Amino acid sequence: MRRAGPAGRTVVLLALSGWLAACAGSIPRPAADQAVRAAGRSPGVTLESLSRGRALYVAKCSGCHALEAPAAHPEAFWAEHVPAMADRARLSGDEPALILRYLEAVRPQSR
Ligand code: HEC
Repeated sequence: MRRAGPAGRTVVLLALSGWLAACAGSIPRPAADQAVRAAGRSPGVTLESLSRGRALYVAKCSGCHALEAPAAHPEAFWAEHVPAMADRARLSGDEPALILRYLEAVRPQSR
């Protein structure tokens, strides 16, 4: 008895890996001190705007491939790829910027 062909299984695995990545804490929630630091670099950033960026990242960027941890790539990588994915993710208005500010803000600062 076959319930899902190979293609169906791939979709399930992709969805599952995104869900696991998000649940494993690799998609961290922004903290207040990170918001303060981020506001120093990008005026107007607040804890709320970072939380909104995270929610957008999880909701809009997990449909086609697994979410990657913000710390998995240097900032320049995100600065290039978030705008590049904006059309695919159907982002509008300030959504790309909100996602980018989130990805920058929650990176480990102890380098
Ligand atoms: C409609 C499907 C779709 C959505 C939604 C989507 N992506 Fe992608 N993404 C792809 C595909 C397909 C590729 C690989 C081909 C390419 O790079 O053009 C890709 C590649 C990437 C890569 C490159 C990975 C690497 O190591 O080179 C990154 C980073 C990325 N996506 C981030 C995002 C982010 C951030 C969002 C949300 C803003 C997003 N994606 C939303 C389809 C999607």
